[in-house]
Amino acid sequence: MVMNFAFEAQKTQQRLLAELDFSQLTSQQKAIFVKRLENGFAPLFEQLFPLYGQCFDLHYHLKVLLQSFIDFHKKKRPAQIKDKSEFWFESNQNVGIAVYVDLLADDLSSLIDKIPYFESLGINYVHLMPLYLAPEGNSDGGYAISDYRTVSPNLGTNKDLKDLASALHKKGIRMVLDFVFNHTSDEHRWAEAAKSGDQGFQGYYYFMGEQDAMEYNQTVREIFPQIRRGSFTYLPELDSHVWTTFNSFQWDLNYSNPAVFVAVVEEMLHLILNGCDVLRLDALAFVWKEKGTVCENLPKAHNLIKAFKACLDIAAPQVVFKSEAIVHPDEVNKYIGADECTLSYNPLMMALLWESLATRQTNLLYQSLERSFAIPEHTTWINYIRCHDDIGWLWDDAISDRLGIDGIGHRRFLNQFYTGQFEGSFAAGVPFQENPVNGDCRVCGTLASLAGVENAIAADDPLLLDHAISRIRVLNGINFAMPGIPLLYQGDDLGVLNNDDYLNDSTKAEDSRWVHRKKLTNADFALAEDNGAPQGKIAQLIREMIKIRKANPLFAAQEFELVSLGSEHLFAFRRQMDDKTLLVIANMSEHLVPLEHLPLGKSLSELIGQETAINLLNKELVDLPSLSLIQPLDILWLVNN
Ligand code: GLC
Ligand code: GLC
Repeated sequence: MVMNFAFEAQKTQQRLLAELDFSQLTSQQKAIFVKRLENGFAPLFEQLFPLYGQCFDLHYHLKVLLQSFIDFHKKKRPAQIKDKSEFWFESNQNVGIAVYVDLLADDLSSLIDKIPYFESLGINYVHLMPLYLAPEGNSDGGYAISDYRTVSPNLGTNKDLKDLASALHKKGIRMVLDFVFNHTSDEHRWAEAAKSGDQGFQGYYYFMGEQDAMEYNQTVREIFPQIRRGSFTYLPELDSHVWTTFNSFQWDLNYSNPAVFVAVVEEMLHLILNGCDVLRLDALAFVWKEKGTVCENLPKAHNLIKAFKACLDIAAPQVVFKSEAIVHPDEVNKYIGADECTLSYNPLMMALLWESLATRQTNLLYQSLERSFAIPEHTTWINYIRCHDDIGWLWDDAISDRLGIDGIGHRRFLNQFYTGQFEGSFAAGVPFQENPVNGDCRVCGTLASLAGVENAIAADDPLLLDHAISRIRVLNGINFAMPGIPLLYQGDDLGVLNNDDYLNDSTKAEDSRWVHRKKLTNADFALAEDNGAPQGKIAQLIREMIKIRKANPLFAAQEFELVSLGSEHLFAFRRQMDDKTLLVIANMSEHLVPLEHLPLGKSLSELIGQETAINLLNKELVDLPSLSLIQPLDILWLVNN
């Protein structure tokens, strides 16, 4: 018999409504809740059914889930942000930064003192790196969470976090928190119970014998091959292998168990109670596992994330999800949608901007963005150049093949280029997680060090330094002008260089990502104020670009196209809003590039709609017919006037 889905969803919803306890809600609260449930239950049921339709106790789990929404509904949250616009993420006012609380300030309450700094920079979106209770020593930068409901005592209290949220909101700044739901730390109360033999909690994780673990390992990618081979950690006390995609103290949660889904939703609601506006879905590609597959980006991972989203829409519809999928571009895009993640990191553009600086060529960048940049209406890219993690070279090899680029060889070149193993490279990066079997690795380093500032200073060479700063200008000039929310990474706005201190800390020395996770000091801020120092120049150019972006609504234009200018060194795109046009032209090479023949027979004047344009970056009037050369590593933000 074919199931009438809408009918069954409606029937289940009615049954559940009759069983729920609303006694804590006022009649007005109840009315709001029931209305949200009426809209939200069917979408939730639709996602949960393929995951848990076979579970005999699904009805029980649904009831627990809905009851936790009711309990949540009456809880007080910090004052909401004033800007209530539904599509706030499309505005040109958005500029983000990601910060570690203890690296920018000391703790949550002293971070409040940094709000004027955010404001002076024009920031209205702050991602606070994980700040929850985590194991002492190595906690993967906080990504091994021992209790989602408790702020790490080093950083303060839950109240401090709520106060910070209110203080940010008062200034119109949105707060982004991590939702690390693929794994908990091995010190989480669920993990502790599992260790002590509780079968119920053992079912929260993937425990298995050696044979099964070996079978899974056949098809699963190794994420931290320097930590351990394979994806499992042996626990002698239980004589069992537990799934650990990342570090051995990060235990993957078993979402094939509906109790885990419900329990994690409850933790998610606690995160929301702190007053966040965006939840960053950490490592979301890994959340569903099936033997014989790569256990990444499986169709049921999407059901699961959509189910979380349906819960969010019922419980806290003003909060949005941001996807952290650092995977093949086609898979990255699948997480983006009105019913899944509203925002997503743009790792493809990030990686290919670095690729084009190394090769001085833009064809792979063009072709890849041509295929992958478009995303659904009312969803937005989070564009970034650097973040707290490494850079991985994740493009679609079908595209590099077509361009005659050997994917494996090209990645090896990029790794060598960015880690000081390629003669003549400008970059000072550090390798991360070299795979002893296939030689694969990823790259760490700050924006300034990777762009050449560190080497130029060491060589005391003004021309190299000039180029390095121009690279930072070009990268930011693209990042601030492309459709999406530009996201800075702490310290990159101050031109901070790589820092080796982590090598002296045994809990960090094995993880080279700490090379770009430096405690920011007064000296770093002072250097960024010094106009004569490279750091000062970098800070200045970034501030200037943010100001221009925020002053000009064209940077919110939804109409967008890549523009080919007929040179392999140039990258260009156009945005359009009513009769206003923004044409961005970037030269990724250290050479003058002639603008000879524009494809499609269109001249620059035709692209902009008139003979002259203003370059917003230096306020100069440009006579387009006579613009025949693009300066080395230059970027132009041309608009019609
Ligand atoms: C994400 C985080 C990264 C962390 C991993 C495991 O990729 O960005 O820092 O190591 O997830 O949580
Ligand atoms: C992420 C990514 C991986 C990244 C790592 C953190 O989830 O999948 O590419 O490098 O975790 O380092």
